[in-house]
Amino acid sequence: MISFSVNGKPVSVSAEPDTPLLWVVREHLGLTGTKFGCGAGLCGACTVHLNGRPVRACQTSLESVEGELVTTIEGLSPDASHPVQKAWIAEQVPQCGYCQSGQIMQAAALLADNPSPSRDEIVAHMNGNICRCGTYTRIIAAIQRASREG
Ligand code: FES
Ligand code: FES
Repeated sequence: MISFSVNGKPVSVSAEPDTPLLWVVREHLGLTGTKFGCGAGLCGACTVHLNGRPVRACQTSLESVEGELVTTIEGLSPDASHPVQKAWIAEQVPQCGYCQSGQIMQAAALLADNPSPSRDEIVAHMNGNICRCGTYTRIIAAIQRASREG
């Protein structure tokens, strides 16, 4: 059993130590907001926070999170009231939606570190999160809105 915290609650999971955190949160814990995109660390769809920092859950082993704090999209706020979530709604960012949990988690980590990022800083930070629907312009606008209104 490997124990850690997910969205503020202690959990213990019995699985192979090298199981990707992505499958632990989706299949063992039923938190399906975190998406599988590439499985190779290349798309960002699986982004969660590990001790407040964005990580690719498909590239993070279960054993590496023992005793640590994991936050998924389900735990970002209790009621979709996080400034990034509110800005995402206001800017109507998603198209198909598949990449958006990862985009939001990546964006939330940026604003936690840097509440007033420049456009260039936003683009650099979000660079590894791919959106096949091409919602990039709205993603940037939403991050700028969250920075202003957050
Ligand atoms: S599924 Fe993890 S980076 Fe693409
Ligand atoms: S909204 Fe469809 S992949 Fe990003």
